[in-house]
Amino acid sequence: MAQSFRTIRGTFDILPDTSTSEGTSIPGTPAWQYVESRIREIMRRYDFEEVRTPILEETELIARGVGAQTDIVSKEMFVVERGDSSYVLRPEVTAPVVRAYLQHHLAQRGGVQKLYYIGPCFRAESPQKGRYRQFHQFGCEVLGADDARADAEMISLMIAIYREFGITNTRLRINSLGGPETRTAYREALRSYLQPHAEELTETSRKRLATNPLRILDTKDEGERRLLAGAPQLADHLDEVDRLHYDQVQRYLDDLGVAFVEDPYLVRGLDYYGRTTFELESDDLGAQSALAGGGRYDMLATELGAKQPVPAIGFAAGMERLFLAMSAAGVELPGRHVPDAFFVALGDDAAHWVFREAQRLREVGLHVGLDLKGRSMKAQMREANRQEARRVVIVGSDELERGKVAVRDMASGEQEDIALERLADYLRTTTGETA
Ligand code: HAM
Repeated sequence: MAQSFRTIRGTFDILPDTSTSEGTSIPGTPAWQYVESRIREIMRRYDFEEVRTPILEETELIARGVGAQTDIVSKEMFVVERGDSSYVLRPEVTAPVVRAYLQHHLAQRGGVQKLYYIGPCFRAESPQKGRYRQFHQFGCEVLGADDARADAEMISLMIAIYREFGITNTRLRINSLGGPETRTAYREALRSYLQPHAEELTETSRKRLATNPLRILDTKDEGERRLLAGAPQLADHLDEVDRLHYDQVQRYLDDLGVAFVEDPYLVRGLDYYGRTTFELESDDLGAQSALAGGGRYDMLATELGAKQPVPAIGFAAGMERLFLAMSAAGVELPGRHVPDAFFVALGDDAAHWVFREAQRLREVGLHVGLDLKGRSMKAQMREANRQEARRVVIVGSDELERGKVAVRDMASGEQEDIALERLADYLRTTTGETA
């Protein structure tokens, strides 16, 4: 039997039409292009500039940036070994953006750097609805600002994007993890509280109790959540400066009318966070309810070798989950691109005329289809229908002699004779009306 190749588990093709893949329907390329261009446009309004970093990064960058004990680094990386070097398919884009910021001395451009990205990320998680091994993130990072305004602007931009796409059934949770001293003190307090209950913890959490007890806070285990309900709270450990920063973030959010709930357990799955963390959830997504999340990571740059800390904050969001939320909210997305006109040619002379005319019309910006197989008129009409062309332009030697072609509107069925020299203008005007 001939071998048939398929996309690998947890990945999918994005086709010209919506496809059903990995138990979810993945919208077609026109929907992706539309959503991406709207995101770019919103990012511009908020004064962000695009960066594109490589898919491959050094394993060490991600391990140090995201944290060796996180699930992402310890279980979910796609590693590529080559000679003595070890690379990973990027599981996220924050550490790569900070690497780029340091590598290219972007601080020297002056001011605050506001950068965004859209592109694929890779995590070897077990695939399910809304969770893939290759997925697509859009996100942004503000580097060089520690003021609470940067935090509030970041959060409000994230929410604005969902609002623009008609997604309002969301919940914003926020928290503050405090600065490094706060976290050291809190880590000890949490460890002392949990140590006597070590037996009741899952194996992973028992390990984390020694290495990174904060990671236990985002456990999904019911027993552990009950135990944590009586645990010391991070909020009570915030020092004065952290507390003030957190209060200011909340006041700026109030200024913008952004509703939020405080969640003292929101530590998030990456180790670089300090102070503000946030996550946007939707009830319409099932188990993978996180639409987007982010936080402040003032210590990441020094973790990656910078001499001075670079105060920074950002968020990232899953494109696929945005599409799922749009579909749940009944938001219409563009379907396939359809031709403004499809040419049907009868005979050799007409075929040559059509070949030249199609080229000319394409040069003036029209989307034009034509027969590439020398098919019969009936078959060409079928092709025009298959492509859902708005109009069919019928050209035979008679038409060419008369200097006119027949243009049929496929929706109304109405047909008009149009002078050859008026064809481009006619199609352009009527395209404007129907598009
Ligand atoms: P994250 O929470 O790991 O944060 O991922 C951000 C978003 O990416 C999630 O909310 C989710 O929508 C999407 N996502 C993550 N994993 C998958 C997956 N396997 N399949 C589908 N979608 C997924 C970060 O990556 C941080 N870099 C965010 C950030 C930016 N923090 C500061 N700046």
